[in-house]
Amino acid sequence: MTEHRSDPQLTDAGLLRHFLTIDGLSRQHLTDILNLADSFLNVEDRTIKKVPLLRGKTVATLFFENSTRTRTTFDLASKRLSADLIHININTSSTAKGETLIDTLRNLEAMAVDMFVVRHGASGAAHFIANKVSPGIGIINAGDGCHSHPTQAMLDMYTIRHFKKQFTGLKVAIVGDIMHSRVARSQIHALSCMGVTDLRLVGPQTLLPKKGHLWPATLFTNVEEGITDCDVVILLRLQKERMVAGLIPNEHEYFRYYGMTKERMLHAKPDAILMHPGPINRGVEIDSRVADGKQSVILDQTHYGIAIRMAILSSVMDTQVKTRQSRRIGYEH
Ligand code: CP
Repeated sequence: MTEHRSDPQLTDAGLLRHFLTIDGLSRQHLTDILNLADSFLNVEDRTIKKVPLLRGKTVATLFFENSTRTRTTFDLASKRLSADLIHININTSSTAKGETLIDTLRNLEAMAVDMFVVRHGASGAAHFIANKVSPGIGIINAGDGCHSHPTQAMLDMYTIRHFKKQFTGLKVAIVGDIMHSRVARSQIHALSCMGVTDLRLVGPQTLLPKKGHLWPATLFTNVEEGITDCDVVILLRLQKERMVAGLIPNEHEYFRYYGMTKERMLHAKPDAILMHPGPINRGVEIDSRVADGKQSVILDQTHYGIAIRMAILSSVMDTQVKTRQSRRIGYEH
């Protein structure tokens, strides 16, 4: 993935042409998405769980990595916006016969797909695609390598705002495998952008970012210290699929020193919320009593993912429709 133009994500007017990363977005962009998601939250309470915003538009999901939450909530979000939805099964698609990602995209473009939701193991994949697709087609990053998972960060901001009402003054700890986590990178950008100044990154030295001093956060290797007085504790999974061997002795040792137990959670504020993007590994980074306990908002995060993804899909489609209209008007003149 070598090709990068300057920020392909925003139009000159600052509208969301694609949704690729939190980096480069303003607090107003994030707040607009959170507020729009608010307006979509009750669609699920209707007899017919749909609004017509994407009627006649086609959304394609391309997941080169496994997913439960992201893919399913994008499916539901697309359907609740009345879009036509197609899944490209990578294992049975022609990419399995050697076709390049871009050739696959070009063929799907030829079928008049309006928007692609892409998860890929290579960092930068979504930017690469966004720089290649024709004008008028939107790309949503559903997670690229260790780089970015911006829709996850947005549903996390939604969850924090829901439970804590505001970001100013919050103490937030992200605990676990920070180094390999695209979720952590996107959360750090989003939390800083929303005004969180007390942000802690907690984990074994081997799983903390190498240039952590350059991040807007304080690093801790002791979990009890790191979560002390926190309002929000966010746990991360050990991402063994991205890890070179030997970064932790074993999962049992990791749980002993970093696993979130009821006893450890007592160091955070009594009304702290406990978050995790999922999938959770019980007995590794989280004890079942915490995962299923009163402070856990893990399933709320998944729930809010639908409204957030509806907001992102509709915002990007809105910009793309405007782009197509202005190109058509320019052509007519
Ligand atoms: N949080 C997250 O991205 O989960 P999935 O891998 O199940 O989509």
